[in-house]
Amino acid sequence: MPQLQILVLHGPNLNLLGVRDPSIYGRLTLEQINAALENRSAELHTNVACQQYNSEGAIVEAIHEALNSKDGILINAGAYTHTSIAIRDALSGVNLPVVEVHLSNIYCRESFRHHSYIAPIAIGQISGFGMDSYLLGLEALVRYLRNNRSG
Ligand code: DQA
Repeated sequence: MPQLQILVLHGPNLNLLGVRDPSIYGRLTLEQINAALENRSAELHTNVACQQYNSEGAIVEAIHEALNSKDGILINAGAYTHTSIAIRDALSGVNLPVVEVHLSNIYCRESFRHHSYIAPIAIGQISGFGMDSYLLGLEALVRYLRNNRSG
């Protein structure tokens, strides 16, 4: 059986992890998070491609490119979570299973972070566990894909 191909998308400012608000986001860098995702993915016998973009259009294009090459998308859209109808439309447009993740618990923070445009079109959301949000999100997506694999 071919390995599942997962696209991991990190949104704006997540390239600054390690220096950005460590009391909220911790001290791990994006490279460390990506390395942990790659290790877990190898254990799960899946492939992950981790990409980070600061601009909305680049995220939309990366989602479009996933259409014929990926089986599912794990996304932390950063602040675009709370603002971007374009990213939500791209995700629902490619019709791939999506898991939304956040390092921080967005519901414990400012009220403008409580709304996600992505959540209604995602399989589910994991928020508040730091790097573990990504690892748990990957596991949930892989389980979902294996349980719902056609053929
Ligand atoms: C975030 C939460 C967002 O509100 C914020 O804009 C981010 C990071 C998180 O991972 O906790 O950039 O998505």
